[in-house]
Amino acid sequence: MAILVTGGAGYIGSHTVLALLERGDEVVVVDNLSNASRESLNRVAELAGKAPVTCIGDVRDTSLLRTLFARHDITDVIHFAGLKSVSESISQPLAYYENNVLGTVALLGEMQHAGVHSLIFSSSATVYGTPEKVPLDEQCLTAGTTNPYGTSKLMAEQILRDFSRAQPRFTITCLRYFNPVGAHRSGKIGEDPRGIPNNLVPYISQVAIGKLDCLSVYGNDYPTRDGTGVRDYIHVMDLACGHLAALDHQPEDGAFRAINLGTGTGYSVLELIGAFEKEAGRKVNYRIAPRRPGDIAECWSDPSLAHRLLGWRATHSLDDMIRDTWNWQKKNPQGYQA
Ligand code: NAD
Ligand code: WQD
Repeated sequence: MAILVTGGAGYIGSHTVLALLERGDEVVVVDNLSNASRESLNRVAELAGKAPVTCIGDVRDTSLLRTLFARHDITDVIHFAGLKSVSESISQPLAYYENNVLGTVALLGEMQHAGVHSLIFSSSATVYGTPEKVPLDEQCLTAGTTNPYGTSKLMAEQILRDFSRAQPRFTITCLRYFNPVGAHRSGKIGEDPRGIPNNLVPYISQVAIGKLDCLSVYGNDYPTRDGTGVRDYIHVMDLACGHLAALDHQPEDGAFRAINLGTGTGYSVLELIGAFEKEAGRKVNYRIAPRRPGDIAECWSDPSLAHRLLGWRATHSLDDMIRDTWNWQKKNPQGYQA
């Protein structure tokens, strides 16, 4: 019996593959390496003492998926594969709809053909658009996404919901991640963005190591405690555990579920900078810049449904997240390419 992990060479995928292998699951990875390096899976194999079966290919390639389902006794699929840059999605919307929406449709069709009925989908807090309230629970409106990336995730969720109504044997769990950060404790695997990072934590980390000069803090006039944006940062190993919990807690009869994975606590940009300076023992250069278009003031989760349905709770603190990010950054200043 094996678990198919699409996008398993990527940031969250590689940490989840490691957690699966470490508890004894067989894992088959399919990844087209459009935003990852094979080295992440070499490191996973080194840490786990065994390697996943790895197939370099695209989830939209239905004949490839058919072969994988025929060759391996796959019981469940975790679907990470997708594009995730908000800014790129604005300039290349079709690429995002093709990959994130059509990739999901192709995968579902092949799961149905193969009789594999369990799917965990990487969704995002971005489906809530501008929050109607905080903390965000799963009953909150999911209209008004602010960019094509977010819309592609919302569309995929809607397709999965419709599909599960038509196919009641399927159990489909959309895990809505808040802001994933951090790295494995070993510092062997972590987030390796290509080019200049879009996200706050890899950006701060590259300023602290000296690869980038100065962080732009996008706005200090938000209605938050210090004027900067507030987010629910969650350690990537907590996310990995959330996927294992979702696999282990599936309803007997099929179902569609959307579940937040967050800590339930928000931190501001300035608080993140302060935590980083404390951990790294050095100043992080920053300047206040105008607000980034499309950004929201604050966003954090109500993670209680995940606890009720999956028995899962985040266990890592902000200090753990920053410690592990910095450890990964120091050990891999050039990411996996060194
Ligand atoms: P990532 O880019 O590191 O990982 C995605 C992986 O999918 C990469 O290895 C990439 O090469 C692969 N891939 C992309 N398109 C593919 C395709 N068509 N076929 C096969 N492989 C393909 O991103 P991540 O941060 O690990 O995110 C994983 C998932 O979680 C994504 O779906 C993302 O949208 C979602 N998500 C991420 C965040 C975040 O901030 N990191 C937040 C919420 C949701
Ligand atoms: C966090 C805070 C910025 C960079 C994005 C996606 C979301 C999800 C997670 C996938 C904000 C501020 C940032 C910088 C800054 N991804 N910031 N200077 O925007 O909450 O979420 O990643 O699903 O869909 O939108 O994360 O890390 O970009 O920003 O001041 O150089 O840091 O304004 O307040 P965000 P982020």
